[in-house]
Amino acid sequence: MQGLLFVVYYESWLLDGISRAITGKAKTEMKALVMEPESAKNSEPQRGRRLVNLLLGSGVLASIASFIYPAFRYIIPPPVPEASSQTVVAGKVADFKRNTGAIFKFGEKPGILLYTAQGEWKAFSAICTHLNCTVQYRDDVHQIWCACHNGFYDLRGRNVSGPPPRPLEEYAVHIQGEDVVVQRKA
Ligand code: FES
Repeated sequence: MQGLLFVVYYESWLLDGISRAITGKAKTEMKALVMEPESAKNSEPQRGRRLVNLLLGSGVLASIASFIYPAFRYIIPPPVPEASSQTVVAGKVADFKRNTGAIFKFGEKPGILLYTAQGEWKAFSAICTHLNCTVQYRDDVHQIWCACHNGFYDLRGRNVSGPPPRPLEEYAVHIQGEDVVVQRKA
């Protein structure tokens, strides 16, 4: 019985020793694997190489940016503030016959000037209130017409048929000598 106990004890001591030896070796190998790159990483040549790579990378980026930025500014120019003028000469009196209309520029946007069959001057924004198409004068029906979706406005700028949801913005018209002057209403 004592002999058996001795054998069991000896075996467990032996297995424990082997296990510690294997674990210890594995730990040492892992440490070597982990530590080696770290020490190599901090070595002088490695640090120098990383610095050179960093500087080269920054230089390349700066060169790319210096090419791209001017092209970008050319393609997308800075926003131009809309002309702040409240009045514009929309045409010459002599150029209009009754029952005619003409498009003029009011700042960056189109306007429409009408000389009606009754001899009245009228001016509106020429931007359709539906989807922003430019409207035109129809002398056959004496109305302002939007060709995009067949919308109509009367001679007071009111939306009278088709999809436009609102009237056109109306401007004031003054005759100054030979000029037809259009003014935004306050
Ligand atoms: S944009 Fe004028 S009717 Fe649709």
